[in-house]
Amino acid sequence: MFPTYRPRRLRRTPALRRLVAETSLEPRHLVLPMFVADGIDTPREISSMPGVFQHTLDSLRAAATDAVAAGVGGLMLFGVPRPEDKDAEGSGATDPDGILNRGLRALASELGDSTVLMADTCLDEFTDHGHCGVLDEAGNVDNDSTLARYVDMAVAQAEAGAHLLGPSGMMDGQVGAIRDALDATGFEDIGQIAYSAKYASAFYGPFREAVGSSLKGDRRTYQQDAANRRESAREVELDVAEGADLVMVKPAMSFLDVLRETADASPVPVAAYQISGEYSMITAAAQNGWIDRDAAILESLTSIRRAGADVVLTYWAAEAAGWL
Ligand code: PBG
Repeated sequence: MFPTYRPRRLRRTPALRRLVAETSLEPRHLVLPMFVADGIDTPREISSMPGVFQHTLDSLRAAATDAVAAGVGGLMLFGVPRPEDKDAEGSGATDPDGILNRGLRALASELGDSTVLMADTCLDEFTDHGHCGVLDEAGNVDNDSTLARYVDMAVAQAEAGAHLLGPSGMMDGQVGAIRDALDATGFEDIGQIAYSAKYASAFYGPFREAVGSSLKGDRRTYQQDAANRRESAREVELDVAEGADLVMVKPAMSFLDVLRETADASPVPVAAYQISGEYSMITAAAQNGWIDRDAAILESLTSIRRAGADVVLTYWAAEAAGWL
């Protein structure tokens, strides 16, 4: 009781605060999502995500090498095909010469096992309707025929050199289907960072520009409803049972409660994805002089770690790793 107890004693100097800090943020915790685009010859900045680029194969290699030198824990690659190469099945996703698979091969040959190379295993960048799966005759996303496409995509990505696949489409059974396919093709050592608790979110807005998405409508028949918590526990449990090597909660900042519960319950490492809208909000506020950019970035990343994330996917991964 006051005046015997004075919690401020431990906050008096930076050294005292550092000594008792419960949460740490290290470069190895951070994964950099990157975009590689087909049909461009110079990197193109994403207007809604200032500082984030769609890369050419050359600029991708260079930026990835810099990020790895800064100490990031891994890279998560997304492909952006030319609009004319999109179709209803997302053929570019399974084509070994599709832009994502070419990007993976470029990074695998450049970086080898010096980093963890991850691939987005989802059709939405490659479909002309922009959905994460294929559609049935009524125009609904068809779960089981989508799994057949994911399986082919997964094997193509493993062949291209990915260490971890990131199924992000929220189809039921996707982790198990991919696991079976990898095991049947000699890729039993290729793992999955499963987007297990992925919510339908307004904060994905800037990502739609980042990947040139063709989506009209929304993903509410497959991504989770922000109102629900219990459902995430179920999704994580199913993904772990299907063989997920890591599980993920996404978005991060509006779902820190879900992240904490997942971290408390999960038998496998837990990742969280600080998504495009989180990046853009902090960036825009900082550009207006409304917040201190670097402090806001570090506070946001620390909060995600404090909520229980072992791994944080963030567009600031390379920059923040350089500060730490
Ligand atoms: C789907 C996918 C999305 C993101 C990552 N993977 C978009 C979506 O679900 O609509 C969003 C990432 C971000 O907003 O930063 N392949």
